[in-house]
Amino acid sequence: MSHAEDHAGTRRDFLYYATAGTGAVVAGTAVWPLVNQMNASADVKAMASIYVDVSGVETGTQLTVKWRGKPVFIRRRSAEEIEAARAVDITTLIDQTSENANKPGTDASDQNRTMDEAGEWLVMMGVCTHLGCVPIGNGSGDFGGWFCPCHGSHYDTAGRIRKGPAPRNLDIPVAQFTDETTILLG
Ligand code: FES
Repeated sequence: MSHAEDHAGTRRDFLYYATAGTGAVVAGTAVWPLVNQMNASADVKAMASIYVDVSGVETGTQLTVKWRGKPVFIRRRSAEEIEAARAVDITTLIDQTSENANKPGTDASDQNRTMDEAGEWLVMMGVCTHLGCVPIGNGSGDFGGWFCPCHGSHYDTAGRIRKGPAPRNLDIPVAQFTDETTILLG
């Protein structure tokens, strides 16, 4: 190899690495804002846990709170609502999973949908699983639970989809009682 060829080879390598280096820098600048956004949303998420005082919620009524920009239904169910929900054969359900973030991978039995053993407290996202409308509550629809008028989805008294285009039961967010009358969302 002559001296000139050797020099040319070195130069080509240099250009190659310089180009590769530039590429890496460009990729780096593209990645940073994404990483920062992810950090920001994690922070926002952490801050977005809220405490809800449910002491004023009467049996057979519902409180709707806004959480992370979306409605959350907190219902204190009557004995009739609980009984109706527990009488359902879950093998007949459209969505046979609990969709409960607190009990992942469990079936859609009423017990797996509610906050407490007795089934008095039901906490769900107030967002139709079809295209995101807010269902109407207080005994609405063919199954006495919630009804989404946008395209006609009927949910039962456990918030499970029973009829209409919605594919999933109403989602249950991470939630827990921190004392007898306070629910922590998130
Ligand atoms: S958004 Fe509820 S039925 Fe379509």
